[in-house]
Amino acid sequence: MPTGETSGGHVVADPTQYSGGNVEWSPAFLGNFLNLGYWVDAPRTGPLTAADRIKASENLYRLVARALPVHPDDRLLEVGCGRGAGTHVVYTEFGPAELVATDVLRAQVSLAEEHNKDLLEKAGGQLGFAVGSATDMPFPDGRFDGLYSVEAIEHVADVGAFAAESARVLRAGGRLSVTTFFARSVEAGPKLAELIPTFAAGHDKATTTDEVRAALEGAGFADIVMQSIGEHVWQRFDDWLGLNGYDDHWARNCLKAYTAGLYDYYAISATRA
Ligand SMILES: C[S@@+](CC[C@H](N)C(=O)[O-])C[C@H]1O[C@@H](n2cnc3c(N)ncnc32)[C@H](O)[C@@H]1O
Repeated sequence: MPTGETSGGHVVADPTQYSGGNVEWSPAFLGNFLNLGYWVDAPRTGPLTAADRIKASENLYRLVARALPVHPDDRLLEVGCGRGAGTHVVYTEFGPAELVATDVLRAQVSLAEEHNKDLLEKAGGQLGFAVGSATDMPFPDGRFDGLYSVEAIEHVADVGAFAAESARVLRAGGRLSVTTFFARSVEAGPKLAELIPTFAAGHDKATTTDEVRAALEGAGFADIVMQSIGEHVWQRFDDWLGLNGYDDHWARNCLKAYTAGLYDYYAISATRA
């Protein structure tokens, strides 16, 4: 069972995975990012550099921001910002009027504030970080024009609650853009738990794409697009691990689980009706 902190009554991710320095995960993740990466700009084969690794993580953020898309007047909410490295990308490259980035763990929010100290000063109130859960967002109804999330919703047990909370804080016509991994079928759940300890521990949930679509529809979202982007995620993440000494690490099973058709990485967008 996860030994999570709680926020709004929801048990959340194991803080031993996300609260500390994550030294054990370096160099799997670099640049204060904690995502598998969208390796669309990296060479398809052969060696990879640290710059490739960081760009892949940044590119997941570029992907979700383009799918919103971001307009200069937009007020945006990020869910599960981690250490705020991607928040920096969205704020500086896409220029929304306002961006509030949230994470359920206070420790992550503190690191995000520390890493973005200069930008926070420059932004003068247009950028902020706050503690908030994907299923309990501390904002009034209709507060945002757009909501995005990179590799956080895999931790959420109740995807219906996430969809409902997203619909609540978005104005009518507001946009949602999410990227992360989801199971391809209900039957995949036990097999994912056999291969990947974070599923076995309940840290990652085997939510299916059908459940995500039903949750979004049920919360009143329309124009739902769910696109597999796994072709540009799993192989090169695995290659990166292989190039960096993770020979016997369980994380090498992620590619195996994808290749076996158990789960995939998705870019999902929708409009709040
Ligand atoms: C894999 S990390 C991704 C962080 C960041 N988005 C990135 O790409 O670098 C997942 C993040 O989601 C946060 N998280 C887990 N459960 C959450 C929840 N229920 N609501 C909001 N954030 C959550 C974790 O604390 C962690 O910072």
